[in-house]
Amino acid sequence: MGIVIKYIRQNLGSERDFKEAARSLPGGSTRSALYWPPFPLYMDRGKGTRLWDVDGNERIDFNFNNTSLILGHNHPKVVSAIRGLLEKGFTLGSPTELEPKLAEELVGRLKGADLIRFTPSGTEANMQAIRLARSYTGKNKLAKCLGAYHGSYDAVATTPKARTGIPDEVLENALFFPYNDAEAAEALVKRHKNELAAVVVEPTQRDMTPRPGFLQAVREVTEQHGVPLIFDEVISFRLSHGGAQEYYGVTPDITCMGKIIGGGYPVGAYASTEEIMEPLIIPESKLPEMAGPKLGFSGTFNAHPTSMTAGMEVMKVMQPGVYDRMSALGARVREGLKSVLDKGGVTAHVGGAGSFFHIIWTDEEVFDFETSATGNRVLARYFTLGMMNRGFFYLGHTNVSAITTEDEADSLIEAARGTLEELKPLVKEHAQHLLTP
Ligand SMILES: Cc1ncc(COP(=O)(O)O)c(C=O)c1O
Repeated sequence: MGIVIKYIRQNLGSERDFKEAARSLPGGSTRSALYWPPFPLYMDRGKGTRLWDVDGNERIDFNFNNTSLILGHNHPKVVSAIRGLLEKGFTLGSPTELEPKLAEELVGRLKGADLIRFTPSGTEANMQAIRLARSYTGKNKLAKCLGAYHGSYDAVATTPKARTGIPDEVLENALFFPYNDAEAAEALVKRHKNELAAVVVEPTQRDMTPRPGFLQAVREVTEQHGVPLIFDEVISFRLSHGGAQEYYGVTPDITCMGKIIGGGYPVGAYASTEEIMEPLIIPESKLPEMAGPKLGFSGTFNAHPTSMTAGMEVMKVMQPGVYDRMSALGARVREGLKSVLDKGGVTAHVGGAGSFFHIIWTDEEVFDFETSATGNRVLARYFTLGMMNRGFFYLGHTNVSAITTEDEADSLIEAARGTLEELKPLVKEHAQHLLTP
């Protein structure tokens, strides 16, 4: 039976839900990334590393809400802390003591940060970080890596040919350089140093890892010319106790975070030095006629107590040894997938660092947006469905969590072996050059 037919038969409830949902929601849900053909799975519940969909199918999760649930679903410590919070009221309309606790924990993990602000999402963390850099420098332009995603926000369009709806004037302020191209980054910063408010880089852009010296070169040239360097660590912060910046030994001026720091609840944050955060600082005063900060920034759901509570519980568990174990497990999966592809006679790129792993269906070396775009998307989609059919929630930014076991990792590798066999006629049809003789 074909991969797609098997998927449809296994997920009749999801197919029904998708059709019904699409009547009121364009694309069937509110996250464009959560549509995949023929229809996405509609989930019912999750526990630990497992997910159950509306048809009752159990799957081992290797997505964890796009990397955010580092302790899996409904971790008992998070559940218990949230229960305690619900007793007290979960949004009180005034600061709480929960917010400075998580703030201190996160600032303590970042070498170059004294202060932090919370937002409801990673998108808004980047938005605010960029506004802060513009306010601090008095300049407007932003340099970023081609193809890098920093959230659904106009100023950080992924490419110069951005999607519809982004004004040309906004795009004119964006300058692009290829990830992993130190020379291009250096040349761009030197050429535009008088106009640049910031350079923003995701240390591990999607599943690509930095070539030795790339992040260091970007750091050096930005420092030399007084351009703030922003690391978007919304995803990569899970690489180590101190994020990708500790993992690769490069300290930015501003760090954006999200995902894991909210323990599964909506969150984002940006952290920096006291000097750069100065526009946000409110002069202390007991008088009602006090002056406000230079840069106002508010949000009804910023630092939501649920996110602060869950995030703190997660951070307490996430101590250095836990990251080491996750990285070892990630390496085990990457090695396993490489071996499956080699033995299966198919060439593909297996990428990722730490707890991340990913297959890109190409015979090219993948190191930037262009080379990653050579990956065959049709094969990627069929592979995803084949893995779903075998009981795995294998989607997007695939990763292992802190509670994923060796056995679960090995079962994923075994399922990849079966899926690859099933996929081979399609490889022949869609990308014959990937078949090894
Ligand atoms: C690197 C990066 N930055 C920013 C974002 C946006 O974060 P959010 O989805 O919380 O708005 C994402 C989301 O996946 C991301 O991967």
